Amino acid sequence: MHILVTGGAGYIGSVVVEELLAAGHAVTVIDNLSKGHADAVPPEVELIRADLREPTRLRQILREARIEAVVHMAADSLVGESVQRPEKYYNNNMVAGLGLLDAMVEVGVLRLVFSSTAAVYGEPERQPIEETAATRPTNPYGETKLALERALAWYGGAHGLRSASLRYFNAAGASARCGEVHDPETHLIPLVLQVAAGRSPHVTVFGDDYPTPDGTCVRDYVHVVDLARAHVLALDGLERGSCTYNLGCGGAGYSVREVLDVAREVTGAAIPVRVGARRAGDPAVLVASSTRIEKELGWHPRPGALAKIIDSAWSWMRAHPHGYAHN
Ligand code: UFG
Repeated sequence: MHILVTGGAGYIGSVVVEELLAAGHAVTVIDNLSKGHADAVPPEVELIRADLREPTRLRQILREARIEAVVHMAADSLVGESVQRPEKYYNNNMVAGLGLLDAMVEVGVLRLVFSSTAAVYGEPERQPIEETAATRPTNPYGETKLALERALAWYGGAHGLRSASLRYFNAAGASARCGEVHDPETHLIPLVLQVAAGRSPHVTVFGDDYPTPDGTCVRDYVHVVDLARAHVLALDGLERGSCTYNLGCGGAGYSVREVLDVAREVTGAAIPVRVGARRAGDPAVLVASSTRIEKELGWHPRPGALAKIIDSAWSWMRAHPHGYAHN
C-alpha cells in the first residue's frame, strides 16, 4: 500500500517509516518539522514539509500520491507542557487531527492508524491497564488524544473510516538509524543518558512520595522498534474493522529509580540524582496489558527489554553525539 505518515520525521514516526518500508509499503511523509528532523526520513521517502491545517494542500497530497492509508503521528506529546499550554494541544492535536479526518473522508482514504497514548487512562484503578478501563485523562494531552479517538468512532459509523488507535505507553530506545532527539529534551531515558555522557550534571527525579514501592513513578517502557512493528500489524488488521490497542511490555513496569539503576549498569556511569517536586499531570503508575494486540494481531514486544532499550539509545547517542545534522 502507499501510506502517508504524518509526523514521519519525528522520533517514533521515523522508526515507523522504516518498518513500513521493510514490510514492502510505499511511504510519503508529511511533517512541518516543528520537532521532526528531515535527516530522520530515509532518502528514498518523499518528505513534504507542510502543516495539517492546510486542508487544500492535504487533499491534494492524498489525491496526487494516491494514498491508500494514513498513519497519523503528528502531534504534541508532552504531559507537563499540555498542562501549562492546553490551547497548543487542543489546536495541534484535536483541530489539526479533525482536519485530517475531513480531508481523508472527502478524498475517500478510509484507513487510519492513529497514535494515541496511555495518558487517556489518567489514574486507573487497576494495573495492568486493559483497553476496557475507564478513560479519565488527567492532562490536556490525554484529553485531546481521547477526543480524536472518539471522533474516529463516529467518523467510522458515518463515513466507513476504519481505524486502529494505538495507545502507546513509554516509547524509548533507538533503531540503528533513528534515535530520540528533542529540544528541549524532557523524557527520562535520554535525560539520564545525557548525564551519563557528562553533558549535564544530574538527573532530577520528579517526586519520590508516590504510592509505589520506591516512591517514584512507574512506567511501562517499550522499545521504539517493537512499537513501530505494531503499526504494520495494525494496518493489516484494519481489514477486520476498527480497534483500540495498548502498546506496552506489561509486567511490573519500571520505577524512575529502577531506570537509573539499569542505565548505570549499561553505561558504567555514576549518574548523580537530585529529588525534586512532582511534575504536574504525572500519574503514579502506568503499566499496560497488551494481551489484546498479542492475541488479535500476534504482536510480541521483546521480553526483558529495559536494558536493551537503554543500550540501543546509548549506542545511538554515542554514534550521533550532536543528534541529526539538520533540523
Ligand atoms: N521523570 C523524572 N525526571 C525527568 C524526566 C522524567 O523523574 O527529568 C519521570 C516522570 O515524572 C515520569 C517518568 O520519569 O514519571 C517518565 O517520564 P517521561 O517524561 O519520560 O514520560 P511520560 O511518562 O511523562 O510520558 C510519556 C510520553 C507521553 C505518553 C506517556 C505514556 O511522553 O506522550 O509516556 O505513558 F503519554
